[in-house]
Amino acid sequence: MAIIIDGKKISADIKEELKDKVSKLKDNGVQITLVVIQVGNDPASSVYVGNKKKACEYIGINSISYELPESTTQDELLDLVTNLNNDASVNGILVQLPLPKHIDEDLVIQTISPSKDVDGFHPQSVGALSIGQKGFVSCTPAGIVQLLKRSGISIEGKECVIIGRSNIVGKPMALLMLRENATVTICHSKTKKLSEVAKRADILIVAIGKQHFVTKEFVKEGAVVIDVGMHRTDNNKLSGDVDYEDVFEHVSAITPVPGGVGPMTIAMLMNNCVETVTIK
Ligand code: GUN
Repeated sequence: MAIIIDGKKISADIKEELKDKVSKLKDNGVQITLVVIQVGNDPASSVYVGNKKKACEYIGINSISYELPESTTQDELLDLVTNLNNDASVNGILVQLPLPKHIDEDLVIQTISPSKDVDGFHPQSVGALSIGQKGFVSCTPAGIVQLLKRSGISIEGKECVIIGRSNIVGKPMALLMLRENATVTICHSKTKKLSEVAKRADILIVAIGKQHFVTKEFVKEGAVVIDVGMHRTDNNKLSGDVDYEDVFEHVSAITPVPGGVGPMTIAMLMNNCVETVTIK
């Protein structure tokens, strides 16, 4: 019988641990502050930002939010980020993506001080991860490693296949699994015989952004399947990149959607915020 990896429970455990740590830091006079910047009012971004603020409040992290109009210029945003970089009372800076088209996202990410880059998106953070140095790790991949470890699934020596090569999930995921001593393959839209490659995986991580892309033809008997996708179905339910019903009988463990990877991203963001006072 397959294990259903419980992201809700694991993320709640992590948040409890962080709450405890933050309380101890406060006893020693250390207050953590996260600044969240949203430009424009994309409804999905507003939901994400609201959830981040709620998590901060729960854990005891001070959150300051800037809700800037769509018309904000690139220079205005860069000036704000620079001021926050120089403000010693600010520990973490998060600029919610996507940004309006007239703003260069890469430039904004590069302007955030690596010491306050709680998203782990700065090239220095990614570079540090790639050569095994300390730095912030992108939250979703970091959350997936926690899901595996806290579910008692060993990573060392395993064949890990990742479907998807985004800067936010696929690439840092590969680097993290390599750091955990897995043998790692990344697949993408141009990969030949993708289902055959996927079938090599002991641990299959799917972040391709296509609903129900992965069926049992992609899954080795007994594999662990991690589904990063999140889609709304026609009857307004949430589902992932993996056809859960189809693969369920073939896997040894699987993340559900919702309640798998999703809740981990904010938990790991909170973890990065706490690390701002320990990682430097
Ligand atoms: N937009 C969607 N996910 C994320 C995230 O993890 N961080 C930021 N900054 N923007 C996002």
